[in-house]
Amino acid sequence: MPDKNRKPAEKNGNGKGTTQLEKLFTDQLKDIYWAEKHLTKALPKMQKAATTEELKSAIEEHLTQTEEHVTRLEQVFELMGKKAQAKKCDAMEGLIKEGDSIVEETEAGSMTRDAGIIMAAQKVEHYEIATYGGLVQFAKTMGMDEAANILEQTLEEEKQTDQGLTEIAENNINWEAENEEEEED
Ligand SMILES: [Fe+2]
Repeated sequence: MPDKNRKPAEKNGNGKGTTQLEKLFTDQLKDIYWAEKHLTKALPKMQKAATTEELKSAIEEHLTQTEEHVTRLEQVFELMGKKAQAKKCDAMEGLIKEGDSIVEETEAGSMTRDAGIIMAAQKVEHYEIATYGGLVQFAKTMGMDEAANILEQTLEEEKQTDQGLTEIAENNINWEAENEEEEED
């Protein structure tokens, strides 16, 4: 059984300090920390642009969760004895930009806009699921069980959000969007 309180740097038992995996883990932690913080600014804009109350409230709920995700990442940095630090995440910046252009290219008040926002939001969720999934595995490998548990909570919330968005899209929005005519330019 791995010792719960074992510090990652002690994992090798050779007193050499930081392992390559720990460095990769920290880099990815900084990346997702930037991404989550960036999302807390982007989600309110997405929410404002959305058409239906259903989607607006789903985005609002996820904003509250996202703020918690930021706090959890700060806890993981603390567990590692490190200061929380953000490193620009080009992928998340790109995904958010893509979401912005969907809003620009769809009509305000349309169901098609909501269908597009859901797709953009799900791309974000899938990026997060991939990152947290990897981080949880790294943490477990390094014997950082407490960090793994914290990250796993966020991973579960990202998965639930993704499923919730699928349900919203499939229940109404996609069907109604399908009946919307394209506006003449
Ligand atoms: Fe998140």
